[in-house]
Amino acid sequence: MGPLFSRHGKSGVISLTGFILAVTVTLSSIPVASGATGDPVRGKKIYQGLCIQCHGVKGDGNGVAAPALMEKPANFTDPKTWQMGDEAFYIHVIRRGRKIMPAFWDVIDPQQIRDVLSYERTFLKK
Ligand code: HEC
Repeated sequence: MGPLFSRHGKSGVISLTGFILAVTVTLSSIPVASGATGDPVRGKKIYQGLCIQCHGVKGDGNGVAAPALMEKPANFTDPKTWQMGDEAFYIHVIRRGRKIMPAFWDVIDPQQIRDVLSYERTFLKK
């Protein structure tokens, strides 16, 4: 090992471990009971940019593009929309797309997917 490594190496490893520990503690303290680990405030902006055209301002599937589509976009105000699977299922749909819905895995990152999903879930309560 070169002198640089031996000078900084050990403390570097220790601080990295500390960092990973801190991240792990932070992540595990985010409430998961509601099924939402995302931030709906950030999710709203993503929704308005990428999803609103199809899923609509009210999340009811009546976006401006909806009449032109061969399939009706999911209605997030309907409890049945949220009974199709667990959180992983919905993340998968957004990542990979479904029927005419495009895939978003290369458009938004995993945290943004959780954010937009948590925003879409707010339509159910309204
Ligand atoms: C081109 C129109 C379109 C856009 C844009 C779109 N969706 Fe969809 N989405 C659909 C359609 C159509 C369905 C219903 C698919 C089906 O019948 O299974 C759907 C279904 C869903 C579902 C429910 C799962 C399901 O299979 O019904 C979720 C969650 C969802 N979309 C999230 C999103 C998110 C998040 C965005 C934006 C990042 C988005 N959609 C953008 C058309 C769209």
